Amino acid sequence: METNRRAFLKGAGASALAAGTAAPAAQNEKPIRLAIIGTGYRGWAHLAILKALPGYQVVALADPTPENLDRAATLAPGAKTYADYHKLLAERKDVDAVVVITPSFLHADATVAALDRGLPVLCEKPMATTVQDANRMIEASRKSGKPLYIGFQKRLVPLTAKMKELAAAGEIGKIVFASGNLFRGDWNPRSWKYTNPKTGVATNWRYLTFTEGSALLEDGVHEIDSMNWMINDRVERVTASGGNNIFKNRETADHVATIIEYESGVKLSFELCLFAPNAGPAGRRMVLIGSEGVMYPENGKVAIRKREGKAVRYVDVVDSTPKAVTSNAVGSAQDSETYKQYLLFAQCVREGKPPLVDPEAAKTVIKLILLAEKSLREHRVMSWNDLPA
Ligand SMILES: NC(=O)c1ccc[n+]([C@@H]2O[C@H](COP(=O)([O-])OP(=O)(O)OC[C@H]3O[C@@H](n4cnc5c(N)ncnc54)[C@H](O)[C@@H]3O)[C@@H](O)[C@H]2O)c1
Repeated sequence: METNRRAFLKGAGASALAAGTAAPAAQNEKPIRLAIIGTGYRGWAHLAILKALPGYQVVALADPTPENLDRAATLAPGAKTYADYHKLLAERKDVDAVVVITPSFLHADATVAALDRGLPVLCEKPMATTVQDANRMIEASRKSGKPLYIGFQKRLVPLTAKMKELAAAGEIGKIVFASGNLFRGDWNPRSWKYTNPKTGVATNWRYLTFTEGSALLEDGVHEIDSMNWMINDRVERVTASGGNNIFKNRETADHVATIIEYESGVKLSFELCLFAPNAGPAGRRMVLIGSEGVMYPENGKVAIRKREGKAVRYVDVVDSTPKAVTSNAVGSAQDSETYKQYLLFAQCVREGKPPLVDPEAAKTVIKLILLAEKSLREHRVMSWNDLPA
């Protein structure tokens, strides 16, 4: 076990993490003292995972919604609670790093405030809801010299990490076309509500463009990030169609289909639908098509079929994330990726390693999705320069 720990701390990469060789910080290391800003549904999931990570100690929590803060406090015994994160950041000199889990439109302000205090930040996806905000965050990280890790934990899903590894090794030649979808149920109706200061009307933050950014920015963004990471090219144009076919009383779309064109001619096609809670295995799909073959997940393995011939090769995917992390006691099965993300974030904080998710790449994903939203609204094809750099 100790050997495993050392191997991890000395820099095992994403594929090793996906394969499950990572282990928490060595026992003799002092835990990283965390402050969490935003303690709603996702915040509680983080806190459940942090219980399984002795390398961290949650010492402070900030959220203006008392009932959410109270529930978070039960998951982080000993942590002091704050209604306002500015007070937390001003008061607490014992914090080593900050995790931002607020509604997306508030990510930039909270992240910049923490970085300006000289603290490393793990910020939930999507990085921000505007390119300008993403730029402010990158600049704050550069000025403070502190890492900014954006929470695209789904890069660490073992199947996804394996596909990235196999694609990079040329198993299907060069990726020339990629296709994916996420068909799911509607947003959590109990999400925090944004109160319009002029009208006093309170609205689920996921229904408003200003607070969510766009539907695709809220979900589907993981898959688009993962495939964009694998394609590793520059975006040239984006087009999208969509709207509200079922959930009509909201600003944000309930279905979107987008096509992203890269400079080399590669295309990425992706569809999101929020009125398909029972789509079963068709609900989540990710297919990479290369010059030499096709690759996709099948029954927990990566299937590779060459362009010529009918043979299929199945590549095993191993994940030995500790059972305590994936059991219901400390979060949903999906959370093993977030667990691994915390192991990687610890390397950034302790050793100054660059984050697996480069903030510039996270910004690219925001920009291409905001271009998709613009295309959907304006019914025209968007060029990369149709939004600011
Ligand atoms: N990585 C993932 O898989 C994943 C999954 C779900 C959500 N998320 C992201 O996590 C973030 C939060 O989502 P959620 O589901 O927890 O939303 P939520 O609505 O359940 O919770 C948001 C919380 O933020 C609090 N908040 C509002 N204003 C605040 C402020 N000024 N300072 C501090 N806290 C404030 C609210 O009171 C609420 O408790 C979003 O950015 C979302 O996109 C990521």
